[in-house]
Amino acid sequence: MSVEKIAHIGIAVESIEKWISFYRDVLGLEYTGSEDVPEQKVRVAFLTIGESSIELLEPTSEDSPIAKFLETRGSGIHHIAIQVDDIEAALARHHDAGARLIDNEPRIGAHDMKIAFIHPKTSGGVLIELCQPSH
Ligand code: CO
Repeated sequence: MSVEKIAHIGIAVESIEKWISFYRDVLGLEYTGSEDVPEQKVRVAFLTIGESSIELLEPTSEDSPIAKFLETRGSGIHHIAIQVDDIEAALARHHDAGARLIDNEPRIGAHDMKIAFIHPKTSGGVLIELCQPSH
């Protein structure tokens, strides 16, 4: 199992429409599209930065985890996504090390990536998303 790169940094915002112009027009990142992830009740917008991306996350319902995050912490960095080449092996390693997993099994996230979240209590306060392209 190898760790490949920071795939993206997830930033929770109340409105993608409101903040996209900063990231795209002012910061100058290339906007590559948006998609709804109904399972997580979010809409995401991706902006490329080198080999990585910024992922803006907007809640699509009041009971979205992102809505709860915004309520308690306000907008800001929500998670860091780390790309691995074998997410099942990575999860097994976390499990063996006693890490607290939010997902014991990978699920499908934006861009058809296999994803799994590691609890911030395990990582010094940062929500970590492991991800692996499913193709
Ligand atoms: Co993400």
